[in-house]
Amino acid sequence: MTLSLSDLLARRKPGYALEGAFYRDADIFQQDMDAIFYKSWLFAIPAAELTKPGAYSRVKIGAYDVILVKGADGEIRGFHNSCRHRGSILCKSRGGQVAKLVCAYHQWTYELDGSLLWAREMGPDFDPSQHSLRPVHLRNLAGLIYICLADEAPDFEPFASLGHPYLDVHDLSSAKVAHQSSIIEKANWKLVWENNRECYHCAGSHPALCNSFSLDPEIAGVNPDGSISPKLQAHFDRCEAAGAPAQFALGGAGQFRFARMPLQERAVSYTMDGKVASHRPLGRVGLPDAGSLLVFHYPSTWNHFLPDISLTFRVTPISTQETEVTTTWLVHKDAVEGVDYDLKRLTEVWLHTNDEDREIVEANQQGINSPAYIPGPYSPVEESGVTQFVDWYAQTMQDYIAPNTMAAE
Ligand code: FES
Ligand SMILES: [Fe+2]
Repeated sequence: MTLSLSDLLARRKPGYALEGAFYRDADIFQQDMDAIFYKSWLFAIPAAELTKPGAYSRVKIGAYDVILVKGADGEIRGFHNSCRHRGSILCKSRGGQVAKLVCAYHQWTYELDGSLLWAREMGPDFDPSQHSLRPVHLRNLAGLIYICLADEAPDFEPFASLGHPYLDVHDLSSAKVAHQSSIIEKANWKLVWENNRECYHCAGSHPALCNSFSLDPEIAGVNPDGSISPKLQAHFDRCEAAGAPAQFALGGAGQFRFARMPLQERAVSYTMDGKVASHRPLGRVGLPDAGSLLVFHYPSTWNHFLPDISLTFRVTPISTQETEVTTTWLVHKDAVEGVDYDLKRLTEVWLHTNDEDREIVEANQQGINSPAYIPGPYSPVEESGVTQFVDWYAQTMQDYIAPNTMAAE
């Protein structure tokens, strides 16, 4: 017998991993896409990825295919990558540079703002203004581009107003992309998130990261009772006195969080020796040991903003058991490779860490694929972040199916 999503949610044991169906059932994967990825605001790219007018980046999310393009006016816009003639995709590469958006099929030609400029022999009654590219909701939050695929987007303002003070000091408008990597992890997107939301595994799996990332329970997070250690509070106070907002701030019913967390003592960036990754800092965080501003926004992004560099991560489900993780390393736009930063030094900690995490979540998925798998308990000390994610997920899915459940009664 196959249980429905609503049955599975009803019998979920809080504080425990989810049942196997949540990680391996194609129907639940589709409901995750419908309820979460096709409805929420999603991080797409750092604005710095598109340097000049005509630069575009293509983002695929489930069945959707979106192009983000910088207009002649410098604005970034999002459009569905589907021609208004007979629907062909317009952009075939992951990114590039164009003068206009031209469909290869019959050469309908669109301006960078999506308006149809030229279509050959469409007859006297044809109205080009009715055939602009279909736009996608888009917001630029302090240099981070978010999109929403829903017809009606949820309110972006609670996230934007909470995030602005934390992010503004990182001045992402002065950033450039130093490096980008995309990997496919053969695991359900929720396992990628669960792994991200705890560092129970870090000591055993991330030797490179542990040179800078702190596992000290006094500064690694909030205590199980919700209190903050005096040591962590002292760090928040120092950062805030230096003009860099730091306090834990959770919003959107648990969908997003900001917190500027200390690194290991004497570490200032994610490098093998903990010293700066770029000598030309990106942003105005005056305190070199301010640590890392950790930001997550479910379901699509976690981020690290440091006094010298910034890192964005994008999580995109590909299929039930495949998830793409795209990491972007941002440095000051005037930082010169080989002078201000060394590319290997800049990227090696997180290239290693991502690969280690990929192995972990793939092994996690493989074990869950066995019919013998039964969900085990999360550590209340080390895995409260995982519990927070899974609770958010379960509540979001419950809210999505609630009208159907009521209609069936
Ligand atoms: S489908 Fe694009 S021009 Fe015909
Ligand atoms: Fe990890």
